[in-house]
Amino acid sequence: MITKIEKIKSLKNKSKIVCLTAYSKNIAEAIDNHTNIILVGDSLGSTLYNFKSTRNVSLEMMIRHSMSVRQGVSKSLLVVDMPYNSYNNPSQALKNCKKVMKLTKCDAIKIEGGLNKIKIIKHLIKSKIPVMGHLGILPQSTKGKFKSKGKSTKEREEIIRDSKALEEAGVFSIVLECVDRKLSSQITNLIKVPTIGIGSSNSCDGQILVIDDILGLTESKMKFVKKFVDVKKLISYGAKKFKKEVKSKKYPSQKHSY
Ligand code: KIV
Repeated sequence: MITKIEKIKSLKNKSKIVCLTAYSKNIAEAIDNHTNIILVGDSLGSTLYNFKSTRNVSLEMMIRHSMSVRQGVSKSLLVVDMPYNSYNNPSQALKNCKKVMKLTKCDAIKIEGGLNKIKIIKHLIKSKIPVMGHLGILPQSTKGKFKSKGKSTKEREEIIRDSKALEEAGVFSIVLECVDRKLSSQITNLIKVPTIGIGSSNSCDGQILVIDDILGLTESKMKFVKKFVDVKKLISYGAKKFKKEVKSKKYPSQKHSY
């Protein structure tokens, strides 16, 4: 039987890969029919906890949210982000990834970095942990404002080198975050594993966005964010209707009381 990971790889050059983040069961359940990959991203730090940096996200937070998301995912591949400081060397990374896989029953993990993390990634893959790579803007190691990647020759050469190294190490896909459109197209054509873009043009094999951003729950100003529906408005409308009925004693009626 073809595994979920093989299925994702087989979509390259055939069908765009649809990925979204989720941080809880109810959201995961609502999107699972429309996604190929659901990522419990460490973006939950800024999205849910208002952290300034993803560096403040702990392994325990990732595990708790992923356990919730797992309950809502039956079809998509479930990937969990390894947070900052949880994969500093091969043995620490393996210990933490095994813990994450065991407790959350996820299908794979994601790690930020290229050649600088290659020893760790190879060790994980050798130990049968499926790894998704992440290049371009690396929020865990970026201080200050995020700037798109691949404008200079040095940056371009580095990202190409890192993509090849990740592919050679055996990752099953690579997220390209805010990578120049020409470069993301070049990398997508160069490597055999799928590229998943976020702010990196539609030449990538798939796209990922943060769920709260597409639902209009955040006020993100990032260029690549598109609000597909305004759920915040709907929530406010629901709360307003509830308030009106509570004040007027219309709710709860006999039907809603014991
Ligand atoms: O943390 C995250 O949500 C991510 C994606 C946006 C790629 O890494």
